[in-house]
Amino acid sequence: MQIIQTIQALETERHQWHGSVGFVPTMGFLHEGHLSLFQKARSAHTILVASIFVNPTQFGPHEDLARYPRNLARDLQLLEAVGVDVVFTPSASEMYPEAFMTFVEPGGVLANQGEGAARPGHFRGVATVVLKLFSLIQPHSAYFGQKDAQQVAVIQRMVKDLNLPVTIQVGSTIRENDGLAMSSRNSYLTPPQRHAATILYQALQAGRKLFESDPTTDTRLVLQAMQTVIAQEPLARLEYIELRHAETFLSLERLQAPALLLLAVSIGATRLIDNFIYRTH
Ligand code: PAJ
Repeated sequence: MQIIQTIQALETERHQWHGSVGFVPTMGFLHEGHLSLFQKARSAHTILVASIFVNPTQFGPHEDLARYPRNLARDLQLLEAVGVDVVFTPSASEMYPEAFMTFVEPGGVLANQGEGAARPGHFRGVATVVLKLFSLIQPHSAYFGQKDAQQVAVIQRMVKDLNLPVTIQVGSTIRENDGLAMSSRNSYLTPPQRHAATILYQALQAGRKLFESDPTTDTRLVLQAMQTVIAQEPLARLEYIELRHAETFLSLERLQAPALLLLAVSIGATRLIDNFIYRTH
């Protein structure tokens, strides 16, 4: 496995690649959720590339950039074990040199609702770094997790709107045994907070059951039932629960696939997100 830190070295290396290139962008502190994307990608490509870059432009001024968890040595071991060929780990100044001033600006509801509303500028930072990584690595396919459903929608929209020659593959959300979606940010939780965090999955299950028993149920009733579940956990503070179209991200009054049942909940200073997707079959 090769570890590359500079753009120049990456470009030299890229010219030696033959065959199909798969790419999984990450911010490191890897868990089973990340690894599932590498496993999905491995057999489909000749060259498998990972990036580990805690991207400063996607963090707000009061967010957790400085304390975002990092463990490069452990990450490299995990990537080696999963069969990654090349790891790109640039510094912030390599990706954003002093004169940097061009950004990708996602628009509409995708940027302004849900996570976009809660974290102004977040998807601008995500889209910008992902486009830069696509330009540098030039993958045939890139892999993203359903856990970050709005990020998937933003990236898919960017690929269409800017005619990027890459296929986006989406991996399902990997969960702990008690249902909590795996996330690097779960490491911030104290034991009582970690216990409380299962409330996100419980609320999603409650919503899912209502829709399963009657898909024509009024969305407001489903969202209210989910709110009631969250309200039972004193450590949890609900930020939003929504039903949205998975691609356009428009709010839905009735269940209509492909739809996302999405929620964001704060537990102490930690913000957690999760979702269920209803696909068309
Ligand atoms: P990061 O949070 O490190 O996640 C990297 C990839 O792993 C994302 O596509 C994310 O959706 C996926 N992932 C995280 N938890 C998952 C889980 N429990 N199950 C399945 N997939 C999961 O997302 C980012 O980094 C950044 O925004 C990035 C795309 C790298 C741009 O900086």
